[in-house]
Amino acid sequence: MILRILALLAAFVPAAALAAERECAQSPGKVIEVCVFVEGGQALYEVRRGSVTVLAPSALGLGFAGEPDARYSALTAARRGASDTSWEQPWGEQRIVRDNHSELTVTLTGDTPFNKAVNVTFRLFDDGIGFRYGYGAIPAGRAVSVTADRTQFRLAGAYQAWWYEGLGQERDEYLYKQTDARRITLAETPLTLKGANGLYLSFHEAALVDFPSMLLAGDGAGTLSARLMPWPDGVLARKTGPFTTPWRTVLIGDSAGALADSRITLNLNEPSKIADISWFKPGKYVGVWWEMHLNKSTWGSGPTHGANTANVKHYIDFAAKYGFDGVLVEGWNQGWDGEWIANGEKFSFTKSYPDFDLPAITAYGKTKGVKLIGHHETAGAVPNYEAQLDDAMKLYEDAGVSTVKTGYVRHSGTITDQDGGNEWFAGQYMVRHHLKVVETAAAHHIAIDAHEPVKDTGLRRTWPNMVSREGARGQEFNAWGVPTNPPEHVTILPFTRMLAGPMDYTPGIFDIVHGKDEVTKRVQSTLATQLALYVVIYSPVHMAADLPENYEARQDAFQFIRDVPTDWETSKTLAGEIGDYVVVVRQPRGGKDWFLGAVTDETARKLAQPLSFLTPGKRYEAQIYRDGPGADYRNDPLAFQATRQQVTSKDSLTLDMAPGGGTAIRFRIVD
Ligand code: NOJ
Ligand code: CA
Repeated sequence: MILRILALLAAFVPAAALAAERECAQSPGKVIEVCVFVEGGQALYEVRRGSVTVLAPSALGLGFAGEPDARYSALTAARRGASDTSWEQPWGEQRIVRDNHSELTVTLTGDTPFNKAVNVTFRLFDDGIGFRYGYGAIPAGRAVSVTADRTQFRLAGAYQAWWYEGLGQERDEYLYKQTDARRITLAETPLTLKGANGLYLSFHEAALVDFPSMLLAGDGAGTLSARLMPWPDGVLARKTGPFTTPWRTVLIGDSAGALADSRITLNLNEPSKIADISWFKPGKYVGVWWEMHLNKSTWGSGPTHGANTANVKHYIDFAAKYGFDGVLVEGWNQGWDGEWIANGEKFSFTKSYPDFDLPAITAYGKTKGVKLIGHHETAGAVPNYEAQLDDAMKLYEDAGVSTVKTGYVRHSGTITDQDGGNEWFAGQYMVRHHLKVVETAAAHHIAIDAHEPVKDTGLRRTWPNMVSREGARGQEFNAWGVPTNPPEHVTILPFTRMLAGPMDYTPGIFDIVHGKDEVTKRVQSTLATQLALYVVIYSPVHMAADLPENYEARQDAFQFIRDVPTDWETSKTLAGEIGDYVVVVRQPRGGKDWFLGAVTDETARKLAQPLSFLTPGKRYEAQIYRDGPGADYRNDPLAFQATRQQVTSKDSLTLDMAPGGGTAIRFRIVD
């Protein structure tokens, strides 16, 4: 009885009575420790991993219009907790996700009305942390403007960084550069670093909802500071109190693979809001797409219009013959003629070009078990799209379409809002817009694959119809990029962009050269690499991007694309160094086989890969798709071999990769 009263008392002790200057918490396995404290009017946190300081004391807090910068005088440990649960993804890179974390919420006492009582909640995992602000002192219904984000990440030690300049006009479609982390000017996230101390870090955010996307600015000395993508008037975020922010995350591991296999981003998102997502099935698709990027046909109307009924039926036949679920068709709708990027408001999302017969196509597809994958290119004319959104989704729903690819080709910073303002591609306006699209689509049982998207922050957990997105330089750059993607690009993505979530990279180009003499004007990989990418890059919807005739001509390699699934029981990154190579294995959901994908940069590499991930005591046939003798992405990209051998978990295989090469393996269980 006395104990119960004491417990009750403890729960009701006024916060001020517990005010302290420093509160610390450790991750469940005591790997990571975070301390929060108040000093000289600043609220600060620091992060350690074992005896290594990862982040030196770094500032916390937001600033608001109409208030001076807050000074903090004390903090209270408002709540502590721990939780070890598992949850199931409806589809994904891993079916069961474990969420094992400890939690510390402190309340900061600030000297301005909105900063009077700021909750900062830290979640600590053994492979990183997340924290977010709760501005609970802002009165209900009170509109506020966030004008500063004071959050810092002060690196302790020397780090290399893989990054590209934030706020560029091509959004996230840039090649990564590798520099000393002190040379970062303004970087997009996920921002991945490798330390001289052997640690790998990645800074990002989770559950980016109704808030601007975060960039990180460097100061030349190793401090990274949050920068939020502003509204046209310079305000960073418009909120109504009280509110919480997205989570700021730091993945911390002792290998590059540890970052890739972290599930922190998903764990920091809310459970699904969609009761029944069974209508979305992961799968593979082909499409009227690469032919436009190669200038063999056009999005707009005319004699070489790609999206004509006969051509689409040809793709449907091909898809049905080889077991693909979907056919993407771009350029089906009116508005592509002329300078479509400049005239996005002319797009109709319900009116087809006369040579594209939507009912006939979907009916034909139905007889063959192939669905049309819809396409909405907005050219960044968001109000025009929003005005038609519901009708557009309904049209597709009625036609039996269950996945729609969206697009926002327009220079970042010139996306028009309904007031004529110029928006960044991932400010609060666009963050709201993308969610509106996903919610509207969900109501129509449609999944979204967004190109030129806001970066992924794990929202697929909450809206599992947000299935994939672009958000990096994809295969399209290998048609017309200046230059095209160099071999190292696909060895950087798994440790940078892919930490955010699935990517619609559109692998599988077999006609690597596509008529170009210069290597920097065509695909810079071997044929085997194109296969390996189906495993290396995770997406629940993967395209076989090349033209049907190029697959028909290479059945030996095509077999792997036919066999590889896009939904997994589990995934592991077995080896890798950022910008050098990566080896990934995945086991199909509900299956016993395993699939391996490995890619290297421009350097040939022989990797001895133990097969200990296979089930002990079982025999497998390893169906190996590898670079052939003399293969080299520069002068012999098509040298290729498909071989088979029996293996067990006790064996090891040598992954022998050419410059720009790769290996794809299906381990088919024998007995
Ligand atoms: C850019 C997308 O990334 C690409 O896949 C698409 O074909 C074009 N926009 C046209 O919408
Ligand atoms: Ca793009």
